[in-house]
Amino acid sequence: MTVSDCMGVEEHRNWGDVDYSALLNGQAFPPNFMWGVATASHQIEGGNANNWTRFEPTSKSGQESGIACDHWNRKEQDLDLIENLNVTHYRFSLEWSRIEPEMGVWNEEAIAWYCDLVDRLLERGIQPMITLHHFTNPLWWEDLGAFEKEENIIYWIRFSSKMFERLSDRVDWWCTLNEPAVYASMGYVLGEFPPGQRSFKKTRMVSVNLMRAHARCYRTLKSMENGARAQIGLVKNINLFDPYRRWNPLHRFQANLLDGMFNRCWIKGLKTGRFKPPSAVRSIAVEGLKGSSDFIGLNYYTHLLATPFMPTKVEIDPLIRPWEERTDFRYPMYAEGLKRAFEMVAQLNIPIIVTENGVADDDDDMRPEHIRRHLQITSEAIADGFDIKGFYHWSLMDNFEWAEGYEQCFGLYHVDFETQERTLRKSGELYASIAKAHRMPQVVILAGGLGTRLGEKTEHKPKSLIEVGGKPILTHILDWVRGQGCNRVLVLTGHHGEQFDGFAHAGLDLTFVQETEQLGTGGALWNARDHLEDEFILLWGDDYHPIDYAPLVQHHRNESSALTMTVTTEHEVMNLQFEDGRLLKYSKEDDAPREFNGYEAGTSVVSKSIVMAHGKEGAWSWEKTIYPALADQIHVHLDATKFWDMGTPERLQKLEMFFNETRR
Ligand code: GAL
Repeated sequence: MTVSDCMGVEEHRNWGDVDYSALLNGQAFPPNFMWGVATASHQIEGGNANNWTRFEPTSKSGQESGIACDHWNRKEQDLDLIENLNVTHYRFSLEWSRIEPEMGVWNEEAIAWYCDLVDRLLERGIQPMITLHHFTNPLWWEDLGAFEKEENIIYWIRFSSKMFERLSDRVDWWCTLNEPAVYASMGYVLGEFPPGQRSFKKTRMVSVNLMRAHARCYRTLKSMENGARAQIGLVKNINLFDPYRRWNPLHRFQANLLDGMFNRCWIKGLKTGRFKPPSAVRSIAVEGLKGSSDFIGLNYYTHLLATPFMPTKVEIDPLIRPWEERTDFRYPMYAEGLKRAFEMVAQLNIPIIVTENGVADDDDDMRPEHIRRHLQITSEAIADGFDIKGFYHWSLMDNFEWAEGYEQCFGLYHVDFETQERTLRKSGELYASIAKAHRMPQVVILAGGLGTRLGEKTEHKPKSLIEVGGKPILTHILDWVRGQGCNRVLVLTGHHGEQFDGFAHAGLDLTFVQETEQLGTGGALWNARDHLEDEFILLWGDDYHPIDYAPLVQHHRNESSALTMTVTTEHEVMNLQFEDGRLLKYSKEDDAPREFNGYEAGTSVVSKSIVMAHGKEGAWSWEKTIYPALADQIHVHLDATKFWDMGTPERLQKLEMFFNETRR
């Protein structure tokens, strides 16, 4: 059904007819999609002293943030909550007022707390995304006038670069400002956020300074060490405005006006470098603004229906369509609008990340459907060609919802604020299962072999620990694995497994399982069966095979395959025959029959059920047992990427040359 054709088409669908099965069977999103949850420092940490704590007694709800979720003292426990959601990414913000409580005074303890949070996330294979400004200011900076004055920006840049210096070696994702249009309109038009003012003049000044601050921050961080590698972007809330009555020109005019002020002018500013702040007559050039985002963070919650009355406060009961459902926040659930929000930000021609989407729903009777609808829209948009890299649910747990206080509950976990007990909601279970069905599989590396053929020095050394190109081959493999979006790795070691003690790799949750005796490739997998996930990528610990995992995994999932192996046809010898995407014969013998037309290149995707069906105690070979037994059920994924092994000194030397060249 289409209600209006003014600000883009206001589509409404009959959600009862929508088939959500792809969300649960892992076929709705590409395997390297970022699955995340989001929070902000002031909303969860507790014990802050900033512009918000000063404002809270006079805010709409009058509620004070107080100890909030006491996250500052419950970091470890909350990390478990994040991990249990099967997410691959976590977005949080740095509380500037803790880090620099007085001008130029740095609190090393607070900095260390955030560094530790980052390290703990990485240990669990969860990638951090840091927001540098999420609505709160240190009191000293608020007293200087915060974003009202251009000369204040330098202090925020100093803070941002200091934290970038400390963390950018291990944090790839950075958000500069969260929702500048919300900060400006809530603080300076509607007066519901600090400093609680109502002045169009100030709104214009603050808006321009926010854009200046964002551009300067982006340029500064980009010029620093790790800057080129880091992904830095602005987070924009897109609130859609639709005319309440589509035939009424006044309603259309008002919707268009609000859309221009809240959405279009900001997007256009970022795109062109010229910014016309809300209610201004002329645009101004903002230095460095054009193209100042590697990605656009999109926060999407709802649409508002416009009438000629200019909102002067956040409506208690905004107008909604009769068939729409109100969230606890009173605005409607309108997932269809997310598509239009994608269209708006896609004008920037940069990757899109949904940095926030969620719903206030204390009893959780809407949230599961809210999640399904918004993910459905996102997956359709990806299929339509939108470059959407990830989705962060707002929020991890119930928290301090700004002017609304603790009444609006956005959490996948319910929080009892008396006891600080957290409980996973049904919607949290749903989100966790969708993330689980889609995230990259666990990686299993067979690293039992010794470097016997590589000379005396390596005779007693596991082959995968042999250094090539300046580091162990295993580290190269893990670099690749991490770059492909995998985060859980199981390394199966043999005798001398103790040589892996202390081996770590930032960003990966690494588990080592040592075999009790020489068990062969099959025996090693059987021995580790309790650690295997239902689906895993199997790699050889002495092969370097830099292929794209996403198409391989997608292939495996689309075919509901039990085993998908990578095959190359560009190899001097052949060891298998395939036809119509299926394996026919496999043989490791030297004399390959003439009809053999492929070579197994190493990386495969395996369903654990195979290990369980064919596994046995003792020593046995994976390839010699499984490949003949399953022959025509095995799917063949063609990929001509060269693979490297280090079985002999000559091949090791070639690999050395390869790494040295790629480093250059
Ligand atoms: C966003 C904001 C978040 C959160 C959310 C829910 O605008 O960035 O901090 O409060 O809204 O209303």
